[in-house]
Amino acid sequence: MRPPDPWVYFQSADQPKRAVLRKSKVRVSPNDRGFMFADGVYEVIRSYQGRLFLVPEHLARLRRSLRSARIQYAGVREIPAEARELLRRNNLLDCDATVYLHITRGVYPRRHAFPPRSVLPTFYMEANRFEPYRNELTRGVRVITVPDFRWSRCDIKSLALLGNVLARQEAVDKGAFEAIFVRDGLVTEGTHTNVFGVRNGRLVTHPRCGSILGGITRELIIRLCRRLRIPLDESGIRQDGLRSMDELFLAGTTVEVMPIVRVDGRRVGTGKPGPTTLRLQRAFLAESRPRPKSRHRISTLRRKGTKNEHGQAAKSAPNW
Ligand SMILES: Cc1ncc(COP(=O)(O)O)c(C=O)c1O
Repeated sequence: MRPPDPWVYFQSADQPKRAVLRKSKVRVSPNDRGFMFADGVYEVIRSYQGRLFLVPEHLARLRRSLRSARIQYAGVREIPAEARELLRRNNLLDCDATVYLHITRGVYPRRHAFPPRSVLPTFYMEANRFEPYRNELTRGVRVITVPDFRWSRCDIKSLALLGNVLARQEAVDKGAFEAIFVRDGLVTEGTHTNVFGVRNGRLVTHPRCGSILGGITRELIIRLCRRLRIPLDESGIRQDGLRSMDELFLAGTTVEVMPIVRVDGRRVGTGKPGPTTLRLQRAFLAESRPRPKSRHRISTLRRKGTKNEHGQAAKSAPNW
């Protein structure tokens, strides 16, 4: 059983040594710049049966976010060991879980400019059980489009998520799983996901730039595409081209490879998860929950996929 008062890691001005403690013991100052300005960055790492997934990639992105936000923080290297410690202490080794962590610019009386360099950033990390979206991954989800009213540094994994929060709530209010943003006629990304389309066997997605977060799952999918010899087009999906997409899917740490079956109430392709999406789902599954023969399974997928893009093997949904 999970402890009712979970273990977390915390470090701040009042507690300069990063330490593991009960969540109820965490005290955050109202002057914390995360609280005042959302002045901080974060990461979410997935764990499968106690095994953290794509850690170096997440830490590299965290370092990029810190650099872009001009937050100097020396404690990134210790994160994996401490994340494992949280999984262990919170009895999360035999299930799926997420590790959430954030770093703010620390505690200082409110003013916009940076505090003195001596101010210690605040660090917080927790781990939570995560139930995979089994039904949604199998059947696919509905999404809506919304105007992208966010800033132009979406590549920073910033705590400031008001735009994403408002858009996701709009989706929820309309009975959709996700809202996908449209900027200058192009689909940028979802509120907590990247967006991919398939047209004529070619994968299409937005280029990596300030308009999207460079998703760790997005990068893995691009690597899988190369392996599976699926051509990739990073010029983006036009909003007026959404109707002509054969397939669409979301990609992210929590949603993995999630088929989209309706956009703004209109059917995508056949209205069922498409063959390329299913192929990528299977490849993703083999990467994230490797079994002894996973390498063999991927090469098998490639052979089957090349021969039989719309055939039997590609159509069967993986078992999440
Ligand atoms: C805005 C946004 N885009 C894309 C993603 C997907 O990124 P990742 O695959 O690293 O989870 C996320 C994840 O939270 C996100 O918040």
